[in-house]
Amino acid sequence: MGMKQERTDLFRRAFELGANYDRQKFDRPPRTGVSRDELLSSLGGPTPENGLSELDALEALVKAAEPGLQVSTGARFMGWVVGGSHPVGMAADWLTSVWGQNCANYECSPAASVSEDVTADWLKDLLSLPEECSVGFTTGATMANFTALAAARSEMLHRIGWNVELDGLQGAPRLRILIGDEAHTTVFTALSLLGFGRNQVKRVSTDDQGRMRVDALKESLEESDTAAIVIAQAGQINTGAMDPFKAILSLLKDRNAWLHVDGAFGLWALACPQLRSQLDGVDGADSWATDGHKWLQVPYDAGFVFVRHAEAHRRAMATPASYLPVQSDIRDPSHYVPELSRRSRAFAVWAIIKTLGREGISEMIIRHCHLAKRLAQQLSQVPGIEILNQVSLNQVIVGFGDDEQCGKMIESLARENRYLLGGATWHDRKVLRISIISWFIDEAEIDGLAEDIIRLWRELDA
Ligand SMILES: Cc1ncc(COP(=O)(O)O)c(C=O)c1O
Repeated sequence: MGMKQERTDLFRRAFELGANYDRQKFDRPPRTGVSRDELLSSLGGPTPENGLSELDALEALVKAAEPGLQVSTGARFMGWVVGGSHPVGMAADWLTSVWGQNCANYECSPAASVSEDVTADWLKDLLSLPEECSVGFTTGATMANFTALAAARSEMLHRIGWNVELDGLQGAPRLRILIGDEAHTTVFTALSLLGFGRNQVKRVSTDDQGRMRVDALKESLEESDTAAIVIAQAGQINTGAMDPFKAILSLLKDRNAWLHVDGAFGLWALACPQLRSQLDGVDGADSWATDGHKWLQVPYDAGFVFVRHAEAHRRAMATPASYLPVQSDIRDPSHYVPELSRRSRAFAVWAIIKTLGREGISEMIIRHCHLAKRLAQQLSQVPGIEILNQVSLNQVIVGFGDDEQCGKMIESLARENRYLLGGATWHDRKVLRISIISWFIDEAEIDGLAEDIIRLWRELDA
């Protein structure tokens, strides 16, 4: 058999295996029942001395790995804010692997560079963010936050005469970092990677929904005139709540400050006219981070960073070297993110936006928010079940009696394994977390989930 035919057979088999998995996922329990030891035994073994055929290696991978997959792209996975991988995104992502483009710079892949340019404009348009923003395509919101905060650090130090790219942070003038107390844990990681340790960051107190308190921010700002980076949030991980952007911006108006917004999923509410008022004023910020692999349903991984001050973004991220071609007016994708070499995420983004369009994206987000309200409404009818957040987005947190009972409910739901849900502690109370964000979730799933929860609670509370 010729090499070309072997490759075609291999790809055809990979397609078949992928399509089988995708079809079956609707019938599979969302959480795998396989133990780590079983996976170690099926995937493990000594370093192979002699290779298998490509086809045999592929079959062996699927046989060993598939039992250990959580069905996170299915309709019953609601444990974390994890998107459902839109089918056209998966298909485009496969092609991205086949095309194998390194999108470091334009020369390496003109199509990757231009598709980033085009989708960057579409994303700004969908999210009503300022046209002048520069955009980077990252692995996720963690790196989008990191990139935006690197630009913020560069700009705020530049304004006071310090070049952090050349002279580093040791000996640099101090910057103040102010962040809501209920910010996502990864933002603290991003800050620490940038030299702002957890103990150096001022945590501003928050309200019962996890929103930054404006009076507390005002008090903190008034403590000093030092240049500040303020980090707000669109979509608290448990409650979905939005910070009061307009009020925050008015406090920052005459100050030397940069406002960054972590909107890993919540920023997508901007794509829906009916939800946009929840983020009133957010377009006045200096930078924003969001995910593609959450509400846009891009297969893992994809995130986006938007920076109003394109020069600062570029200064913080550019990777110059004499051997790398540069064309000043053409996009080199690596100048907007930390990595030089990476896959092109924009092809999948392009295909999804082209498929769903503005209407489809907005309809999906509204559907998820409607489903979250529907679930909360059904559960709140039952004595002993409490909805602990104001359900205005896609997140529902639920309390059951006391912490012990809540723990038992989380265990029972996990044991039944019809839905994959999460647990957390919210304001000193154990809660069940439900994130409605996967493309496929519909009313039937939500009603089934409500029935299961109510049945198990009645059994426990009997
Ligand atoms: C509010 C918020 N910020 C940041 C992140 C981190 O995003 P990622 O895991 O895509 O890096 C998340 C993830 O859930 C999030 O919800």
